[in-house]
Amino acid sequence: MNALAATNRNFRLAARLLGLDSKLEKSLLIPFREIKVECTIPKDDGSLASYVGFRVQHDNARGPMKGGIRYHPEVDPDEVNALAQLMTWKTAVADLPYGGAKGGIGCNPRDLSISELERLTRVFTQKIHDLIGIHRDVPAPDMGTNAQTMAWILDEYSKFHGHSPAVVTGKPIDLGGSLGREAATGLGVVFATEALLAEYGKSITDTKFALQGFGNVGSWAAKIIHEKGGKVVAVSDITGAVKNPNGIDIPALLKHTEITGTLKDFQGANFMDPNDLLVHECDVLIPCALGGVLNKYVVCFAAK
Ligand SMILES: NC(=O)c1ccc[n+]([C@@H]2O[C@H](COP(=O)([O-])OP(=O)(O)OC[C@H]3O[C@@H](n4cnc5c(N)ncnc54)[C@H](O)[C@@H]3O)[C@@H](O)[C@H]2O)c1
Repeated sequence: MNALAATNRNFRLAARLLGLDSKLEKSLLIPFREIKVECTIPKDDGSLASYVGFRVQHDNARGPMKGGIRYHPEVDPDEVNALAQLMTWKTAVADLPYGGAKGGIGCNPRDLSISELERLTRVFTQKIHDLIGIHRDVPAPDMGTNAQTMAWILDEYSKFHGHSPAVVTGKPIDLGGSLGREAATGLGVVFATEALLAEYGKSITDTKFALQGFGNVGSWAAKIIHEKGGKVVAVSDITGAVKNPNGIDIPALLKHTEITGTLKDFQGANFMDPNDLLVHECDVLIPCALGGVLNKYVVCFAAK
């Protein structure tokens, strides 16, 4: 089942439980607007490269739409649709005055230089600038994008609409970003984990963790867990995976990835097959990369 089919199914189940009228159910499932644009940029070597960018604006009944922009080879319209819809439910459940949106470009950011990423982000912004905005739709960082990406969007958008720092969240502090934003999602993951552990009479200190993804969310979650005395026994990212049954020295791993850009050759742990991360022995598995990774196989393994 693809991401959109799964999200629609979950929504229908919730709608039945809430006793929602079937006409309303249909109207809530269909997105407000789907945008698909061609983004062609000159590469550093002078050749041209074309990418497809998406923005799905799902619902604005409760306020401006809001959601991340993802740069990843697997970005496709179904996935963006599903993630936009989930943003609508997320802001509504948290009772925030926002709607839901999501966007992305089908590309591998690791294959692009900084200047190519900047050109791609600016072209994408040129194509969608009149459909986003402070009171319409506010993008944010997601997988493969960061504060720098938001700064480029802000700058490009401002060329058309005047200085508009509020057009994106997750921008650098110097451009009006919020203190604590970079750590916020990883910290939220830790708060949720602490609440779950408390239900079992446990705490972070007596718990072993495995994390898939060591980007913004995963690295902050790992850092905070380590600071709180938890044992991170395995970590993976797109470059591989490392394990240490006695607990990985997370500050040392962060320094290593900052310098090398990869988990490979880290001295304080053994390298392992990244496919084994999801079934590695631990008390808590935290998926901080792509969605849809918790399947029957992983759940059956955890139940053993
Ligand atoms: N950044 C945020 O504030 C935020 C907010 C809400 C949700 N999320 C979600 O959290 C997840 C991670 O986002 P992020 O901002 O940390 O992205 P990121 O790009 O900073 O990091 C993603 C990490 O996942 C790894 N990865 C990618 N493909 C992988 C694969 N096939 N196997 C193993 N690792 C893989 C990357 O190497 C990287 O370490 C995404 O699903 C995103 O939608 C992020």
